Amino acid sequence: MNHTHRKVTGTIDGRKFEAPHGATLLDTAKGLGLTIPTLCHHPGLPPDGNCRLCLVESGGRLLASCMYPLRSDGEAFLTASPLALEARAFVLRLLLARAPNDAYLLGLAGELGVGADPRLTDGADGCIRCGRCVRACRAAGSEAIALVGRGRERKVAGPFFEAPIDCVGCAACARACPTGHIAYSEEPRSIWGRDFDLEPCPLCGRPMGTPEELRRAGVENPVCPACRRREYSKSLMGLPEASFPAP
Ligand code: SF4
Ligand code: SF4
Ligand code: FES
Repeated sequence: MNHTHRKVTGTIDGRKFEAPHGATLLDTAKGLGLTIPTLCHHPGLPPDGNCRLCLVESGGRLLASCMYPLRSDGEAFLTASPLALEARAFVLRLLLARAPNDAYLLGLAGELGVGADPRLTDGADGCIRCGRCVRACRAAGSEAIALVGRGRERKVAGPFFEAPIDCVGCAACARACPTGHIAYSEEPRSIWGRDFDLEPCPLCGRPMGTPEELRRAGVENPVCPACRRREYSKSLMGLPEASFPAP
């Protein structure tokens, strides 16, 4: 049987849904126009389910909606039941203790009427240990950083808590970080305590990325995405393409 076309039906907050078999509860809720708060989830990265902010109730159970695949008909989910809200408030207190100044968390805390747990704010550094940066680095093609250490010592760093020596300066980690914990600048490029050169596009002169990042991408004679699109359109219309300088 071809499973890709199978549909699953159920309800979220009393609203009926019909979703592709295996779709996540989070995506399905979004499709109904419902909002479930998330933090470790990023639509372009593999899910990890570690922050627990997206908890939803189903029959007295709490489920991380970003990780929950819809596989059975007739399930009913509640995104804002007392149990779900209580669990979310608990998670939020812990996250706020890590990142007490984060605007998104403060907004949610205001809605739910919670504050950071003062017993846990010691050592708050703005990082909620969600691992989005690590997943972004991997998705970009490097494995320069990881969550290292245990307990309160746990943090994002290169191997052995050192600066990430394999970092190519692409800044994917910093762009993916939901709390802005990773300090960086786009131009001039600086991240993880290192300054990187930026290679200009040979056609328009706009910065394309660091030389290390372009080598990682393995593209010969790279041009920036805008020029690539323009050259591609020209080739479709039969117009002469730009000549690239010799490497
Ligand atoms: S800047 Fe460095 S650590 Fe961050 S994603 Fe790119 S390679 Fe990884
Ligand atoms: S640095 Fe940012 S993305 Fe990485 S674990 Fe901390 S909060 Fe998450
Ligand atoms: S967003 Fe689902 S567990 Fe973090």
